[in-house]
Amino acid sequence: MIDIALPKGRLGEKVYQILEEAGYPCPAIREENRKLVFEDVRSGVRYFWVKPSDVGIYVERAAADVGIAGKDILLEHQPQVYELADLGVGRCRMCVAGKKDFRDSRGRTLRVATKFPKIAKSYYSACSRDIDIIELHGSIELAPLLGLSDVIVDIVETGKTLLENGLEVKETVVPISARLIANRASYKFKYEEIVRLCRRVEEHCRRAGYLGEEEIR
Ligand code: PRP
Repeated sequence: MIDIALPKGRLGEKVYQILEEAGYPCPAIREENRKLVFEDVRSGVRYFWVKPSDVGIYVERAAADVGIAGKDILLEHQPQVYELADLGVGRCRMCVAGKKDFRDSRGRTLRVATKFPKIAKSYYSACSRDIDIIELHGSIELAPLLGLSDVIVDIVETGKTLLENGLEVKETVVPISARLIANRASYKFKYEEIVRLCRRVEEHCRRAGYLGEEEIR
């Protein structure tokens, strides 16, 4: 059995579909209920629905052998896991955004609101910019609108949230997509099963056109 942590929500549904089409179906997962664990003996898999930001913890601590997490979560929490593949789905970018008329002046500390303090700190420390981090847990776009911060560091997918709140992207910090990760001990002890799953999933993502040439190793 391979234990797989899936990120609950829209990305998780997409990822489950990829796994199903790659040869790891578990029809029970499509039933409308609130169960969190689904097993399919024939496919040799057990799936768990996990809060997206917790996938790394489940995999690092071996509660799951593999999992699918956004690169944003991996950069922010840096779990001790192997990153095996880029699935090319869940694409978005981590950006600095602010009000249209905001111009940064190096003379003062920049107030940055974010759910991703580590990513923001490392980005600004690479540019030697003094910042004051304001850590929030959602609706980050409100911060510059209410004068709580000068800018935000946040995920931009369609750009709709920024647009509808009169904000714009100032800089791109890093592109994001979903990654297949593995527990280090599981990778050793279930090597063949995990490598087979990884190859099948990558092959499926490549055929489905989720991966550009640059992501195919
Ligand atoms: C994320 C992100 C932005 C929004 C971007 O928020 O923090 O607010 O999605 O998407 P868009 O570019 O397609 O508009 P999420 O939906 O996770 O909600 P949150 O406010 O609770 O963080």
